[in-house]
Amino acid sequence: MLINAASRHMFTPKRKQPKPELTEAEMAGILDVVTPYSMVHESGIRFTIEQTIACIKQGLPGVLMECGTWRGGCSVAMLLAQRRAFGKVLRPVFMLDSFEGLPKPMEAEASTRRCRQRSSSSTNSLR
Ligand SMILES: C[S@@+](CC[C@H](N)C(=O)[O-])C[C@H]1O[C@@H](n2cnc3c(N)ncnc32)[C@H](O)[C@@H]1O
Repeated sequence: MLINAASRHMFTPKRKQPKPELTEAEMAGILDVVTPYSMVHESGIRFTIEQTIACIKQGLPGVLMECGTWRGGCSVAMLLAQRRAFGKVLRPVFMLDSFEGLPKPMEAEASTRRCRQRSSSSTNSLR
C-alpha cells in the first residue's frame, strides 16, 4: 500500500495544485472589502471564507447560496475567497433576500417566546 502510494507520487505528472489556503494578508484584504457590507462579525466572515475554500477543495457538488444577504458582504467574501484561492470563481454564489428586513415574529413564535419567558421566570423564582 505504502509502495503503491509512493510510486503513484513519483510517476504521476505534477499538476498545478490550487493554493490551499489564504495568507493572513489575503484574508485581511477580503475582510477590508466586505466588512462594511455585512452585519456578520469578522470571525463569522473568516469562517465563511474558510468553509467556501474547504467545500470546493473537498469536491462537494453544488453551488453556494446565502439566504438573507443584506448588503452582500458575505456573498462577496465567498466570491473573492474563490478568486484568491483558485484564481477564478469555480462556484457561483446565489444571493437571496426579501429586501424587506427581518419580519416581525408570527403569532406562533410570539406565544412560544411567552412560554419560554414564563418557564424561565418560574425557574428563577425557585432559586
Ligand atoms: C441579519 S441580516 C443578514 C446579514 C447578512 N448575512 C450579512 O452578511 O450582513 C437578515 C437578512 O435576511 C433578510 N430576510 C429576512 N427575512 C427573510 C425572508 N423571509 N426571506 C428572505 N430574506 C429575508 C433581510 O432582508 C436581511 O437582509
